[in-house]
Amino acid sequence: MRVIIEESAEEVGRRAARILARQVREKPDSVLGLATGHTPLGVYRELIRMHTEEGLDFSQITTFNLDEYVGLEPTHPQSYRFFMQRHLFEHLNAHPSRIHVPDGRALDFASFCRRYEERIRMAGGIDIQLLGIGRDGHMAFNEPGSSLGSRTRLKTLASETIRDNARYFGTEDRVPRLAVTMGVGTILEARQCLLLANGPHKAEAIQRTIEGPVTSQVTASALQLHRDVIIILDEEAASRLERVAYYRDVERAQSLLESGGLRALGIGPGTGNG
Ligand code: PGA
Repeated sequence: MRVIIEESAEEVGRRAARILARQVREKPDSVLGLATGHTPLGVYRELIRMHTEEGLDFSQITTFNLDEYVGLEPTHPQSYRFFMQRHLFEHLNAHPSRIHVPDGRALDFASFCRRYEERIRMAGGIDIQLLGIGRDGHMAFNEPGSSLGSRTRLKTLASETIRDNARYFGTEDRVPRLAVTMGVGTILEARQCLLLANGPHKAEAIQRTIEGPVTSQVTASALQLHRDVIIILDEEAASRLERVAYYRDVERAQSLLESGGLRALGIGPGTGNG
């Protein structure tokens, strides 16, 4: 896992947007897995800026969102479909027929969920999956105890998540109790996973995700099994990590490698290691 620590939440958003933008430039018909919540907002703002100011073209992308509340109309201001329209899709030139957000009003969820997985497969699989994390360590709505092999399905929200999300609904009793969500197994099939976290309230979940055991009690810890994960944190979300100095060393080496500065790492002719 590559752990990148940025100075601020704004920098976290910009860094993640640069990774997504590079993906879209290199492969214009990329399949992007997208997330809702407060955390990805900075990423979406930056992608919109790149589209309007720099002409970054999204016309060929396909997107799949992680999850949706059960029972909310797509026009409900707290539905994830509404969130995505408002904060991203209506500002980009992505084709509506290639945008997918789970349907929280499906009558037959079992077959809807099977079809959602099938659509991801038919699109060629997800190239980069953007992820946030809950205070209880969930990714998407895979609450503690979710099978690490789980697929898209209905999930009951944990009381901690209901409390956290009540800020959007006004009161806890208005928060839907069920969601349809990609499973941990679905997420692990993305070619690359990009998990973001900001703020001190995420610090413990982040420490357990990166440095704790792989456990269904912290479903984001399953990312330790994935071959290509980038985790971008602000200083506060990184504040409980025990090996921060090492992650910073790795990051320095990585950016030198990317900028061709091998000599600075002692590699190459005349350095004794070459
Ligand atoms: P947040 O939610 O980005 O609003 O903090 C993240 C999550 O619960 O997955």
